[in-house]
Parts: sequence; C-alpha cells; structure tokens
Amino acid sequence: MQFPEYLTLCQDWVNRGLKTELDKLTDASLPESLHQALIYTALSKGKRVRPMLVRAVCEALAGTADAALPCACAIELVHTYSLVHDDLPAMDNDDMRRGQRSCHRAFSEATAILTGDALLTMAFEVIPDNALVPADIRLKQSQVLARAAGCKGMIAGQSLDIQATGKKTDRVSLEKLHSRKTGSLIEAACMLGALSAEVEPDAVDFLAHYAHAIGLAFQVQDDILDATTTTKTLGKPHGRDAELGKATYVSLLGLDQARHQARTLRDKALAALQQGSPQLPGTLAVGFLENLAHYIVDRCS
Ligand code: IPE
Ligand code: IPE
Ligand code: MG
Ligand code: MG
Ligand code: MG
Repeated sequence: MQFPEYLTLCQDWVNRGLKTELDKLTDASLPESLHQALIYTALSKGKRVRPMLVRAVCEALAGTADAALPCACAIELVHTYSLVHDDLPAMDNDDMRRGQRSCHRAFSEATAILTGDALLTMAFEVIPDNALVPADIRLKQSQVLARAAGCKGMIAGQSLDIQATGKKTDRVSLEKLHSRKTGSLIEAACMLGALSAEVEPDAVDFLAHYAHAIGLAFQVQDDILDATTTTKTLGKPHGRDAELGKATYVSLLGLDQARHQARTLRDKALAALQQGSPQLPGTLAVGFLENLAHYIVDRCS
C-alpha cells in the first residue's frame, strides 16, 4: 500500500469511528442545534493527520488499528474543538473552516462555544470505553491527552498566540508558542499510539523527538500556507495571519527561511525515526511515518 491510500484508509476509519460516537447521542434532552453543530463540526472534512499518527505509531509497534481507534477519535475530537474555538470572534475571528462556514457562523457564537466544550468532553468519554486495552493504560492515555490539551500544552500555546498578536517576537518565544499550540497534540498522538500498542512512551523516546519535530513543522507549514495558498485550496480564509498581525515563522523569518526551517525539522524527524526504527517491528507503518514527515511539509492544504 502507498501512503496516499493509507491516508485515505485512516480518514475513512476514523470518520466511521467518529460517526459511531456521534450516533450514541440519542438523549432526547440534547437540543437539536447543539446536536447538529456536533455533527457539522466533527464530521467535516479534516485531513485527520493526528488519528493517522495514532494508528501508524500503534501499528509500527505491532499494535492493532482496533485498539488505536478510541484514541484516534479522542484526539480528533480535541483537535476539532480547538478549531471551533480558534475561529471564534474573540480568537481569530474566521468565517470559514474545512471548506464550510465556521461553526459560530453556521450556528451561533454560544452554540460554537458549547460545541467546543462538548467535543472536548466527549474525548474523555471515548478513551475509558476502550475494551481492547487494559484499564491502567486507559488511565495513562487520559492523562496524556489532558496534559497535551490543557494549560501546559495547547491552551498555553493559544494563550501565548493571543498575547503575541500585534507584537514583535523572537525565535525562541515563537518556537515555544508553536510547539505548544500545535506540537502538543501531535506529540500526544504519538504517545497515544504507543500506549494503544501497550508500549510505554519512555521506551520509545525517539518517537518523542520525531513527534516534536513534525509537530513544529506542521505549524511552520500552516504559517507558510496561510501566506501562499488560496482560500479555496485551504478551506479556510487565506492571508489572515498578516491581517491579524500574528506571530508566525513567515512574519519572523520570511518565506524562504520559513520553508528552510520546515525542511530542517522534517529531516530531524526522519533522523530520529531512522535511529529508532530497529525497535519498530511494523516496517510498513514505519514507512508511513516517514512519508508523513514529508507530507507535513509538502502538503498544499
Ligand atoms: C489546523 O490543523 C490547525 C493547526 C493546528 C495548524 P489541520 O491542518 O490539521 O486542520 P484539519 O484538521 O485538516 O482541518
Ligand atoms: C491554531 O493555529 C492552532 C490551534 C490550536 C487550533 P492557527 O490559528 O494558525 O490555525 P488555523 O490556521 O486557524 O487553522
Ligand atoms: Mg489561532
Ligand atoms: Mg486560526
Ligand atoms: Mg494558521
């Protein structure tokens, strides 16, 4: 199987998993607008990079896709919530997301806030329900995801992003900001994949180096695409970072240096993977992890 087929396979797989979770929302007291907004956001067309990472790491460590599915759904729910809130008027005030009107535009601001809250909360219902991994592992997975999403991880990054908006920043601060707001969940995806294969993340610390590098590279490329690609291709408004005065690799270093930085990070990720690959029995999935590092910096949306 080639990488594009694997990516499609993972997208279909997690979309089915997310649909199954949403189908469980049968409580008659759930207001219809909130229910519709949950379906609208969770089943919208995301690339599903984080779920793919959970699965590929799990498979690289000889775990199964079935065991990885709950964490793949959980991380995508957290990521989707972060996008719903990121688009709110008080944050980036964006009207489009994943090729459709952003949640607060399609519904209302209050519904978007509550939809984000509900998606985040749902993630922590999904992990403990996984009958395919032992309870102590599920506890660790919940901790990993909570830490990555919370005020030492993604939320810290989003807060730093707001603080840095309209101000001059330096490279060290920008790396910290980007590693938190975007790198945290990508690193968590790797750890969740390892735990789904019942492998302690500490035993495969080269994967943490790989994840740290692709996590930062992911946001560097996001900054580049914001400055270079059309709204239609992106599925979200282009050129917003410059309009809002966001601290980005493009605003700090310029496009050429930002591209150079993305490639340097990709190479760091590949080197970490190469160093650890003798410890990874699932050679097909290891190849996909390599491909993913390339995809992150070569993607057009
Ligand atoms: C966008 O993430 C926000 C960032 C963290 C850079 P993605 O580019 O993964 O967005 P979707 O999930 O494909 O829409
Ligand atoms: C957002 O970064 C990262 C999140 C935690 C959601 P951006 O604000 O650059 O993401 P986009 O460009 O709106 O997707
Ligand atoms: Mg933002
Ligand atoms: Mg944004
Ligand atoms: Mg962006």
